[in-house]
Amino acid sequence: MVMPDSGPPDLTGQVAIVTGATGDIGRVTTRALADRGAAVVGTDVHASSDAFVEDDSIAYRRLDVTSRSDADALVADVMFEHGRIDIAVLAAGIATLARVDTVTDEEWDQVMGVNVYGVMNVARSVVPVMKERRYGKIVAIGSIAGRFGGAATGAAYAASKGAVHALIKNIARNATDDCIYANAVAPGPVTGTMWGDVVNNGSTPDPSTVVPLGRYGMPGDIAQAIVFLASPQSNWVTGQVLDVNGGMTMI
Ligand SMILES: NC(=O)c1ccc[n+]([C@@H]2O[C@H](COP(=O)([O-])OP(=O)(O)OC[C@H]3O[C@@H](n4cnc5c(N)ncnc54)[C@H](O)[C@@H]3O)[C@@H](O)[C@H]2O)c1
Repeated sequence: MVMPDSGPPDLTGQVAIVTGATGDIGRVTTRALADRGAAVVGTDVHASSDAFVEDDSIAYRRLDVTSRSDADALVADVMFEHGRIDIAVLAAGIATLARVDTVTDEEWDQVMGVNVYGVMNVARSVVPVMKERRYGKIVAIGSIAGRFGGAATGAAYAASKGAVHALIKNIARNATDDCIYANAVAPGPVTGTMWGDVVNNGSTPDPSTVVPLGRYGMPGDIAQAIVFLASPQSNWVTGQVLDVNGGMTMI
């Protein structure tokens, strides 16, 4: 199987699904995919959302990523409506703070349910339909915590993001014959709700002391990296975890 050469960023005619689409990173990513020409189905756990009402190329559907049957139903609905899924951005996630000696079974299961099952449930629903068309781009959001163990976040979160990185590589390894690409973006701290919750639970260093590029990330910094990995621009990139963190990791 010869993989296609890398090409322009245009996504006209393509169909994308995004999980966690009403979150800080998901929302900007959903709009960025639509701006490139894709028809996007933005999903989140909420019953409804007015996040995208003004945008004709974005539809909203409820999807609880912890549910395999919800994921199957979403993929079936999108296939019925559009007949194809080219891109799956897996942005749903939750962060908790408990360390290994205080984390409860409930917290552990909750974080693994959203962050790991959430990626697996959608990936295993979407891979068969991508296989049929012999093309697909899966982009998950990992984390710097999955790389370095999570200085500001808890044990379950760090472990879940490490699992996402490994799962994405496994998907990539087993899907090249079908022209399915799987990559992850590993953000550093991004200004918004999730990082705000972490900040509220402890002191946050001045970014100029910990981020070589001198500031925390913005959702658009992550969205642009995701769109790169979702587009034909990255047709020689698979099984990678792309660090987008202002230079916090240089290895
Ligand atoms: N914000 C950061 O600093 C940062 C850093 C590294 C990685 N990340 C990762 O980036 C991703 C997006 O984070 P964000 O900053 O936009 O956070 P966010 O909290 O704004 O968005 C997360 C979204 O996930 C959704 N979600 C939670 N549980 C769900 C479920 N069961 N089913 C479907 N959706 C569910 C939430 O409703 C929310 O819209 C997450 O995976 C997060 O772990 C964020």
